[in-house]
Amino acid sequence: MVIIKILLIEPSESIGELITKNLQRNFDADVLYAQNAEEGVEAIKSDDEISLIIARNLSAAPILNCLYDLSLKTPFIVIGDFEHVYKKYALVSDQLRLEEINRLVLKALGLKKEDFDHLKLPDYVPFPVKHFYLMSKSPCDVYIKLLKKTGDEYVKRLKQGDSFAKDDLKKYEEFGVGDFYILKESYDLFMEGLIAQTLNSLKNVRSMEENVEVIGDSYVISSDLMRALGITPVCIALVNQTIQSMKTQILQSPKLGPLLKKILEDHLSYSYRHSYLICALSYSLLPKMEWGSQDQQASLLEKICMVSYFHDIFLDQEKLVRINSHEELREEAKAGRISAREQEQIQNHAHHAATFVQGYPRLPQGVDVIIKQHHGATNGVGFPEVLTAAISPLAIFFMVVEDFATRILAIENTPENLAQSMRQALVPLKEKYQLPSYRKIVTEIETMITPKKS
Ligand SMILES: [Fe+2]
Ligand SMILES: [Fe+2]
Repeated sequence: MVIIKILLIEPSESIGELITKNLQRNFDADVLYAQNAEEGVEAIKSDDEISLIIARNLSAAPILNCLYDLSLKTPFIVIGDFEHVYKKYALVSDQLRLEEINRLVLKALGLKKEDFDHLKLPDYVPFPVKHFYLMSKSPCDVYIKLLKKTGDEYVKRLKQGDSFAKDDLKKYEEFGVGDFYILKESYDLFMEGLIAQTLNSLKNVRSMEENVEVIGDSYVISSDLMRALGITPVCIALVNQTIQSMKTQILQSPKLGPLLKKILEDHLSYSYRHSYLICALSYSLLPKMEWGSQDQQASLLEKICMVSYFHDIFLDQEKLVRINSHEELREEAKAGRISAREQEQIQNHAHHAATFVQGYPRLPQGVDVIIKQHHGATNGVGFPEVLTAAISPLAIFFMVVEDFATRILAIENTPENLAQSMRQALVPLKEKYQLPSYRKIVTEIETMITPKKS
């Protein structure tokens, strides 16, 4: 098999990395990265083995001119709207979607998906035991890995069709088994079973407490899958159902208190508690913001649930989700608790998630913008030194509610002392948010948590 050398010209380093990884994984490609057109032109001039060029629309024209000047016929993919006299020599993808880029790569190189099947996966594919939580029947044979001096050994633990319960899985985890393995050939069968059984579990009717647990499992499974596989049809089905279930449970809860207490139980994943708490608090606060009729309230809640689900999707560790400001980032870095890479990950996570979500089907309007601005920076990079009112009103709303939620989560034993924790969490917000547009939300939070006199 010939090595495919791809030149990628992409202004954002983090998106560049995302595309590079994707090209390496799917095509075993040797990727040359250039941040701008000049670097790209240099690379074309000095390397005659480039088999394909991918560029963001902003850098595309100089590249196409260079190809023309050098009479090169290298296939060219442009990401984003693009107009040029030689446009017919380029394949254009209107959105940044990995799946779409991969399709165009195959087309440009005249290759088939099957040509790369061998790269996809090792013989055994690991899946975290957690991903089995909402299943009860094994869709295929399942193995555990034993580390032996002579090499890894895989031992079958579940046969296709075997029943199991979440408690059985927990026992494996207690024994230090984090991953189960399935044979590469069973991948499709397993995914099918995973999605079908997980979706079914989500749809079952249960008590509020059980629902919050089940949605928590599916939150972890769906966001892991989305990070690993991108926006694929199965991931979309699971993510949509998870978000719907989060929303429905809020709408069906006659009182917010018991729901909040359940959400705050600390055996649930931090990311989930963080996201769900924001949604539940928003539900009470949105009507106070007088942003429209009853119908519009429902669609606002839907938006907040989407934002909440996706806003930190690229922060895959609890310690990263907890960081909410410059100061915290600096402190954690200084203490050596986060690496330089993780710092970069944090700086770019809002921008990265906003770009990613643009490829999500039927995305409610404005969700990407709120995600981009959810730490207050208009461009979605880093944390602003000074707060600005020049971001979307819903982003301001989300920011303050998220701040409130993060502070509640930082207080120990909150479920037992919910009211007190909320009062405690509000104090620093009053100090921090002086701009009227932010202040209004703080005031509404205060009204919400102050007991009404009867
Ligand atoms: Fe967050
Ligand atoms: Fe964030």
